[in-house]
Amino acid sequence: MSFDRSVKIAPSILSADFANFGAECEAIEAQGADWVHIDVMDGHFVPNITFGPSTCAAIRPHIKGIMDVHLMIATVDPYIEAFAKSGADFITAHVEAGPHIHRTLQAIRGAGCKAGVALNPGTPVSAVENLLGMVDLVCVMTVNPGFGGQSFIESQVEKTRVLRAMIGDRPIHIEIDGGVSPLTAKSVVDAGADVLVAGSAVFKGGSVSKPEVYGENMRAIRAVC
Ligand code: DX5
Ligand code: ZN
Repeated sequence: MSFDRSVKIAPSILSADFANFGAECEAIEAQGADWVHIDVMDGHFVPNITFGPSTCAAIRPHIKGIMDVHLMIATVDPYIEAFAKSGADFITAHVEAGPHIHRTLQAIRGAGCKAGVALNPGTPVSAVENLLGMVDLVCVMTVNPGFGGQSFIESQVEKTRVLRAMIGDRPIHIEIDGGVSPLTAKSVVDAGADVLVAGSAVFKGGSVSKPEVYGENMRAIRAVC
């Protein structure tokens, strides 16, 4: 996997048909998705529950490209090995998930995965300053994590710009997660983001029997970037 800063679309299967993840992953990839984003929620770190490593393992054979696992769980460390074994390429943990994010990121890389760190909207960018030597991705949350379909929080655009400058030449992706649509994508790409997570904006109006809508929705996001 070589590093590149071109814009990548990562549909979140949080907005897919939960009874049909395999076919949904195949459909979005066939329609041009670059990565597949998997939102893991524990009902403790965030007020919603989704699924765990066994679901990720079941989905993995249906994804040809990058499986991007976003852990909205606390604690993180006891589950890293299971998510790595499920076939995750990237594992992202929240800086707010516990006092030892540095150890968590070491463990993610130690398990053979790319390491990501996510920032809630209320967390300053300085929280990742001392972690940039050990991450492959920083995820800027542009909604409060927990649910799909929320409104984009505008103040995170300037935060993304500051983060981009802080990253400099390091091979670190900037991922934007929450409320990404054709109306908001350009502002974050201009600020320096390269991975756009989008749930509702990709899946709306489509289905595995109408997958071309997923393609149209992704093209509408790409067109503004
Ligand atoms: C929020 C999740 C996101 C989100 C994206 O907790 O991490 O991935 O579901 O969904 P949209 O694009 O609908 O905001
Ligand atoms: Zn996410």
